[in-house]
Amino acid sequence: MKAVIPAAGHGTRFLPVTRVIPKEMLPIGPRPALELIVGEAKEAGADEIVMVISRGKELIRRYFEDDPAIRFVLQEEQKGLGHAVLQAADAVGGDGKFLVLLGDALVAGASASAELVAMSAAHGGAGVIGLERVPKEKVSRYGIVKMDGDRIVDMVEKPSPESAPSDLAVAGRYLLDAAVFDMLRTQAPGKGGEIQLTDAIRRLLAEKPVCGCAYSGKRQDIGSPKGYFEALKAMGENE
Ligand code: G1P
Repeated sequence: MKAVIPAAGHGTRFLPVTRVIPKEMLPIGPRPALELIVGEAKEAGADEIVMVISRGKELIRRYFEDDPAIRFVLQEEQKGLGHAVLQAADAVGGDGKFLVLLGDALVAGASASAELVAMSAAHGGAGVIGLERVPKEKVSRYGIVKMDGDRIVDMVEKPSPESAPSDLAVAGRYLLDAAVFDMLRTQAPGKGGEIQLTDAIRRLLAEKPVCGCAYSGKRQDIGSPKGYFEALKAMGENE
């Protein structure tokens, strides 16, 4: 199985340090956060990892260049998460399922990816999306899903609290059929004028079943100083 780690964002919420240090390379103890995410992917069964980086993130390449399991692809323009994942299409290939682990989402206390893989083995279908419950006033920061049992029947990127179909948010981990690349290739820009992974998955789940998995670990958003401090605390408690 392959895994894609999008790590091409500019880290604007964590300036000025992200002018020279990618947010994914901030240390959690002796290791950069990204190494913990790579570890999660490998533990879940990924034997090849595709990192999507942008210019200015050479530090990531330098740190991981001796790891034979890791390949790098460049996202030349910042056109959204869906566009970033699409850059990995050739490296992933057209068959089977692959993991997506967002490079700024650390999960403490459990392997979210392994839980997604286990759920996929039990349910089949075209994918499993990691979910978490969020306060209603924060739904506009996330992809929000509508469920029917274990199945996701609809999803919308960053809705207003009034229009959100639930308070269940997409939480940084995905297991997706490679068919999603076909959707991404023709995906029109959505929220914020960006090519959204959420919109492509919405088209995928209209054709084939996609499950939701409220994984047991706690996600930390290390893209902001507050989330980073919380991640340090949570990871410290698990040492
Ligand atoms: C991305 C996704 C969103 C998801 C979020 C957290 O948004 O587009 O659907 O809920 O990650 O995993 P971003 O935080 O990059 O704006």
